[in-house]
Amino acid sequence: MRQPRLTRRGLLTGGAVTAAGALAARALPPSSSPSSASSPAREPGAPSAPGPAIEPFHGVHQAGIATPPQAHAVFAGLDLLPGTGREAIVRMMRLLTDDARRLTEGRAALADTEPELAVHPARLTVTFGFGPGLFAAAGVEELRPESVAPLPPFVVDRLERRWTGADLLLQICADDAVTLAHALRMTIKDARSFTRVRWTQRGFRRGSQTAPPGTTQRNLMGQLDGTVNPVPGTPDFDRAVWTGDGPRWLHGGTTLVLRRIRTQLDKWDAADRTAREFSVGRRLDTGAPLTGLREHDEPDFDRLNTLGFPVISEYAHIRRAHVKDPGMRILRRVYNYDEGITPEGHADSGLLFASYQADVARQFIPVQRRLAEADLLNEWTTPIGSAVFAVPPGCSADGWIGETLLG
Ligand code: HEM
Repeated sequence: MRQPRLTRRGLLTGGAVTAAGALAARALPPSSSPSSASSPAREPGAPSAPGPAIEPFHGVHQAGIATPPQAHAVFAGLDLLPGTGREAIVRMMRLLTDDARRLTEGRAALADTEPELAVHPARLTVTFGFGPGLFAAAGVEELRPESVAPLPPFVVDRLERRWTGADLLLQICADDAVTLAHALRMTIKDARSFTRVRWTQRGFRRGSQTAPPGTTQRNLMGQLDGTVNPVPGTPDFDRAVWTGDGPRWLHGGTTLVLRRIRTQLDKWDAADRTAREFSVGRRLDTGAPLTGLREHDEPDFDRLNTLGFPVISEYAHIRRAHVKDPGMRILRRVYNYDEGITPEGHADSGLLFASYQADVARQFIPVQRRLAEADLLNEWTTPIGSAVFAVPPGCSADGWIGETLLG
């Protein structure tokens, strides 16, 4: 049955309207009132948003996973306020879905206080994930996949609470930092009545204006990062990323492990090129394996050097992380972070390591375990944050994200 169109009032019925929200809604100019907000908000004379800059919001899967990575990302980890139960979570997810639907289409959100900022979607995607606490709060603990839980501890971990865990994830990505900031503010505003923000983590990678689409990005250590990754549109990708077994509600969804990994760039500076390449098992310039010539050449893990030692070390990152079965790999959709420079001139930077897989226990944990046991790269990298989420499937134009679990 077709459901009636969502309105802000309908979404918020039940006492979730904050005084500030009501005031903001009343203060809107006529051109951005909720009724007119459903048509694209355009600055006078502004060019219309280019077609390819819109990433479809509706579909079997949520956008922002198979989507070619945008230049900017923010991951926001929210905790539900005490007493926020199933009915309130449903209201919140309807509201946030509506925001995401509009903003990704280049339309102002309902009661958007800066509707002009919605004009350029710049391939905006808004992706939602449910942390362990949400299942308990909604009273659906039995539907939580077992491995959607804090990861087991690894010896390399130096986790800080301020980057760890959360009940709800908003992953917002766009090719434009202003679009991203606006989408974050609009969605967080609507989540405020239900949640507290535990952390926000901002990341970036080379934009499509700088590096042609399909180019593997470089992280701040200078490495090509993302060479061996499932390729969207292939059966291996579908098997590796989209959940097809376990709880029915998650079919077509996935899971996300978000690790904040600090990189010690000053220490890395002290390593020469040979040591750097040896630690990963790939060349820095081309990204080719040490046994090959081109980036996508298959590494030959059996090849020995003249002294009889493996060319790709037993402890090289790519050997330790390698998974033979392409349908059992993880999808790495990583972003760099760089939080500025200390007064002494040192960078606080690293990777927002976002890993998507059909099953955390089957795919992510074995790789992370092998890397924690031995990986030359550990010399320069330290996980300082960790969070795990179930990422529900997508929805139709009448639906909302989370309906398969809570509807
Ligand atoms: C700051 C931390 C890290 C850095 C700088 C890093 C960097 C790299 C680089 C340069 C490569 C080779 C090129 C490529 O295939 O992308 C690579 C491959 C890979 N990394 Fe990492 N990585 C990090 C952490 C991790 C973690 C935490 C995991 C998983 C738990 C992981 C899993 C993988 C996998 C699965 C591959 C592909 C291996 C293969 O060739 O089959 N990495 N990484």
